Amino acid sequence: MKKIQINRMTKDDVDGVFAIETIVNPHHHWSKESFYNEIANKLAYYYCAKDEDGKILAYIGTWHILEESHITILAVHPDYRGLQLAQLLIIKAIQDCYKEMIKYITLEVRESNVAAISLYEKFLFSNVGMRKKYYQDNGENALIMFTQNIWYDTFKNNFEKVKASIDKVEYSYDE
Ligand SMILES: CC(C)(COP(=O)(O)OP(=O)(O)OC[C@H]1O[C@@H](n2cnc3c(N)ncnc32)[C@H](O)[C@@H]1OP(=O)(O)O)[C@@H](O)C(=O)NCCC(=O)NCCS
Repeated sequence: MKKIQINRMTKDDVDGVFAIETIVNPHHHWSKESFYNEIANKLAYYYCAKDEDGKILAYIGTWHILEESHITILAVHPDYRGLQLAQLLIIKAIQDCYKEMIKYITLEVRESNVAAISLYEKFLFSNVGMRKKYYQDNGENALIMFTQNIWYDTFKNNFEKVKASIDKVEYSYDE
């Protein structure tokens, strides 16, 4: 079974993250500069999932603003999908929210992105609205997804259930 380590993204990780970013989003990817800026941003929490050899397989970013966390980016290398890596990264992001007394988590997702929408629904995000023509590359609409208050039992119980269902990789978190 693969052993996965989740750590806070550092500037040494940016080349590896950017390599995945250009595969996942060939025409509208983030620049390296954006990742360097995010690492230096005090409101931002960015993490990488790495294998035993230190190879970066996936990454997530969030901003904490007052009582909300905003997921800004999430991607898994196409060769390593279906291994629950996205779930591991979201679990880390949610754990940060509990530490920081955050109440809600939100994000935008392309309305055609069935895989990501299903992933977020697993964590009880629901669609609360739409930003029309939000994506500049193809004019696609974004769905706005929000959690309920993450301190409510329904959210917490589901979160524990999802955590307990991680069985495809062994994993540890750095901090
Ligand atoms: C969406 C993405 C992050 C999922 O990563 P992953 O590590 O393969 O996801 P996981 O293995 O943790 O899967 C978790 C859940 O996501 C959903 N999911 C993942 N891939 C899916 C697919 N191809 N079709 C439908 N649902 C899918 C399912 O609900 C799955 O749960 P299940 O296995 O119990 O059915 C990945 O496909 C990706 O990087 N896509 C491109 C970038 C992207 O869309 N990012 C999100 C931007 S908002």
